[in-house]
Amino acid sequence: MAEAFAPGKCILFGEHAVVYGHPAVAIAIEQGVNVSIKKSEEWMIGGKKFDPSKHPHISHILHDLFHYKGEPLKIEIQSQLFSAAGLGSSAALSNAMGAALHKLVNPNEKLDVIKLAKLGHSAEAAAQEGRASPTDTATSSLGGCVVVSGEKIGGTEHIFDTELVTPEGKRTWSISKAILPEGVEDIWLILGFTGVASPTGKMVAGVADLLSREPHKKDVMNDINEITHRGLKALSVGNFGDVGVAMNECHEHLRSLGVSNESLDRLVEAVRPYSLGAKMTGAGGGGCMVALSKEPQRVSEQIEIAGGIPMISKLLSKGVRVL
Ligand code: MEV
Repeated sequence: MAEAFAPGKCILFGEHAVVYGHPAVAIAIEQGVNVSIKKSEEWMIGGKKFDPSKHPHISHILHDLFHYKGEPLKIEIQSQLFSAAGLGSSAALSNAMGAALHKLVNPNEKLDVIKLAKLGHSAEAAAQEGRASPTDTATSSLGGCVVVSGEKIGGTEHIFDTELVTPEGKRTWSISKAILPEGVEDIWLILGFTGVASPTGKMVAGVADLLSREPHKKDVMNDINEITHRGLKALSVGNFGDVGVAMNECHEHLRSLGVSNESLDRLVEAVRPYSLGAKMTGAGGGGCMVALSKEPQRVSEQIEIAGGIPMISKLLSKGVRVL
């Protein structure tokens, strides 16, 4: 048997703007996806016969992404992530599945996490009409605090570069890790799920449409770029007060791109008195918001009172791993 775990992610700054080459800062969260597989007489998933038409995503990961041609498999998947909610559940699934397959097929070879991130990115792009940044897959595979940007960013540790041809032209991204200072142990990320799933592809296409109809909205992207740089600087020196301010500002700019909604705004407002900062996270239109706080229980309560589902994560978690 082979088993692997890959974490989900939460974007602190730069969602949507990163699709256009601006930087984004994402953090691997504690919760993720666990995949265990073993060779079997017939294809099975979750104790039932595996029907590729019912599991097109799994089938795509197995055959198109990882070109698995071996014996039938018995697959078990356990996810702690809300899906289509901005937490990178499909990236985590693809990384965990890839890592488990790697262990099964090449038990003595070291897992190549950069290759996993690149493969997962091309799958995300295929699912998002050709517009996807490598943020989710890179954060889930590398773990920690990951910076994805069209340009190399000083003060971070460069890990790899990647590119994609999108409908708006070729994009290249540099992926690096930010080293966070001591003192992150008593700061928490509290995620609040609105209860509404929202496919990333639709939200990304909506922003592309907005930018073509209202080209001046590109200024919002430039403002998010400035906030992301400022937020990252504050994060790197452990100035969490300023990180929170940048998160609040980022939320306002995402609102003006039309990707927030009433439930996200309600959850964000509800937690602000107990948080350093709060914003929607990921593609928006539903999905999750995130708060940075020293009072995770109080923030969770506020999320519940406002009608959301809370989930607490420590600030830094490891990337994909074979178990
Ligand atoms: C990713 O979780 C969120 C978006 O920035 C899309 C992407 O980066 O591919 C909206």
